[in-house]
Amino acid sequence: MNNIQLDQQGRLKHFLGIEGLERTLLIDILNTAASFLSIDAKAVKKAPILRGKTIVNLFFEPSTRTRTTFELAAKRLSADVLNFNVDTSSASKGETIIDMLHNLEAMHCDMFVVRHNACGAAHFMAQHVSPHIHIINAGDGEHEHPTQAMLDMYTIRQYKGECAPLRVAIVGDILHSRVARSDIHALRTLGASEVRVVGPKTLIPKGVEALGVKVFNNLKSGLHEVDVIIMLRLQRERMQGALLPSAHEYFQYYGLTEEVLKVAHPDAIVMHPGPINRGVEIDSTVADGERSVILPQVSNGIAVRMAVMAMILGVVIPEQKEVH
Ligand code: CP
Repeated sequence: MNNIQLDQQGRLKHFLGIEGLERTLLIDILNTAASFLSIDAKAVKKAPILRGKTIVNLFFEPSTRTRTTFELAAKRLSADVLNFNVDTSSASKGETIIDMLHNLEAMHCDMFVVRHNACGAAHFMAQHVSPHIHIINAGDGEHEHPTQAMLDMYTIRQYKGECAPLRVAIVGDILHSRVARSDIHALRTLGASEVRVVGPKTLIPKGVEALGVKVFNNLKSGLHEVDVIIMLRLQRERMQGALLPSAHEYFQYYGLTEEVLKVAHPDAIVMHPGPINRGVEIDSTVADGERSVILPQVSNGIAVRMAVMAMILGVVIPEQKEVH
């Protein structure tokens, strides 16, 4: 398969989306992240693996977790990191993204971590940069958020073991969620036994069953005996028209409370990519409760992003054997 993300030897050159990537590559990322977790736990959180490399965070949309954990991951691998401020750049004077990239390339940068509200933005950039430049997609519109999916898979493996025997429910605004799309591809590729999407009809994309998921419009039915619950935020910034009555009513029907959680498997974990909206999609008692692994997800994001950057820049040859 001709995948722009891979070089001729099948190694990661860019990381743009989970769709089309082989299971072995996803497992390599998880195993490499596991080896980096020890650096993250040390008193001196540094390894000289990316010394001399320059990584630019290019965020055209707001971010707390992704931008910060990419920066920490790059710094822990000893790379130089530039947080490019798009708002005060020459983009506001009409400079195109491609001209901007070529100018940053002329400053001898090695990798761009890109978040943009347009689907395909990172892919477009990967097609236009010089061959030695690498692009990581940190979220493109409603399309994909591949490092979020990998940190979600890492967290699931950490708490539940390998993906295969698990039932996973993704709940909420599936229609506008790049996290849902990337998670579905990752869960299906890693062989989860059942992937469900749960939400009101207006927030479930038509034809989503083709991705190999089961659709539920009733929350309790959708969560019945699941092992993993991934809650999503309502992406109001991407909604056009009235797709929902009110936040209050949404919480009544689709909010995750302690009461609703009882229908899931007794050991089910609760995940959320953040930012969470308490009292809209999730009750505080659940978000802060013992089943919640929302903050460990954030911590795991550092090791996973270290792994992706190191694998792309060719400094880690991951072991092929699977570690669970
Ligand atoms: N999960 C996620 O993408 O969070 P941020 O928008 O804060 O980066």
